[in-house]
Amino acid sequence: DALSDSAKRGLELFRGKARCTRCHSGFNFTDEKFHNLGIGWDTNTVDLGRYMITNTPEDIGAFKTPTLREIARTAPYMHDGRFKTLEEVVDFYNQGGIKNPHLDNTVIPLELTEEEKKDLVAMLKSLNGEGWQHVSAPKSFPK
Ligand code: HEC
Repeated sequence: DALSDSAKRGLELFRGKARCTRCHSGFNFTDEKFHNLGIGWDTNTVDLGRYMITNTPEDIGAFKTPTLREIARTAPYMHDGRFKTLEEVVDFYNQGGIKNPHLDNTVIPLELTEEEKKDLVAMLKSLNGEGWQHVSAPKSFPK
């Protein structure tokens, strides 16, 4: 019973209507693949992402799906840090990403209600864990 009712409804949405698991799937909430969501295509300094490494057209503007573990603690969001809150992230997905010629075809307008958006945010906030907070980074590199 670790999840609130709102977070439970959010999990249903995450897997269903909101289509998040098409990319944020598995144990770490990532398919380990690269997708174009249109981040940056509303500016004049588009980062071409994985294309810069592979030179294959399907990688234009594609970034690796990040994990969602501890997501409430790791703002700001997206590779350019444009969103300060998870509410803004959910609004971004709800409007179907940002149009560009290489937009991933799974990113479409979601038509979530205000209530559904709140439930999805509650679910994302439930992805925080305990037990690592006392672990600190090593002071020097292993020799
Ligand atoms: C088409 C694949 C895809 C779908 C569908 C998708 N995501 Fe993402 N998600 C990504 C990628 C790729 C990024 C990184 C994008 C970037 O930085 O340009 C990302 C970034 C994020 C981030 C920011 C992570 C960070 O550390 O900055 C959050 C939060 C997030 N997604 C939540 C969601 C939610 C909630 C949904 C469902 C409404 C969803 N995603 C649907 C691929 C996807």
